[in-house]
Amino acid sequence: MSDMRKIIIDDREIQIDGAMTLIQACEQAGVEVPRFCYHERLTIAGNCRMCLVEVVGGPPKPAASCAMQVRDLRPGPEGQLPVVKTNSPMVKKAREGVMEFLLINHPLDCPICDQGGECDLQDQAMVYGVDFSRFREPKRASDDLDLGPLVETHMTRCISCTRCVRFTQRLLV
Ligand code: FES
Repeated sequence: MSDMRKIIIDDREIQIDGAMTLIQACEQAGVEVPRFCYHERLTIAGNCRMCLVEVVGGPPKPAASCAMQVRDLRPGPEGQLPVVKTNSPMVKKAREGVMEFLLINHPLDCPICDQGGECDLQDQAMVYGVDFSRFREPKRASDDLDLGPLVETHMTRCISCTRCVRFTQRLLV
């Protein structure tokens, strides 16, 4: 049985199943929300925090839109529709903070990477990040894993989105 709800996302009113997540609701409303760990075919990890949005009237902090369901939203004090913002100053600042944080230990030598500087991380850093870092300490070093002859890892470039872990777990069940 579906539980249809009306919500407002960036001034667009939509009707959506309450079981959907906010990131799915944003997709339905045609609003792009950046993400690293979310994938529609994998379990939800909610660990990259790149999908933060502002829930008006909710806790005064950004919410991970991939981990919050539409049915978790509350109406306003006079019964107004719940409002989600994806382009407010709070969201912009949160995204910039997340990008800065994710790049703390990530090498910035894109030309020698297999992706050659054309990866999601760089694309999203260009759009949502800042052009400076307050991090002055040495970057963390990590050993590459030995996963056999078919898989090569470059762990210094891992941002711990855990997509690979969830993908392989899915293959095993
Ligand atoms: S996409 Fe939501 S926390 Fe990573």
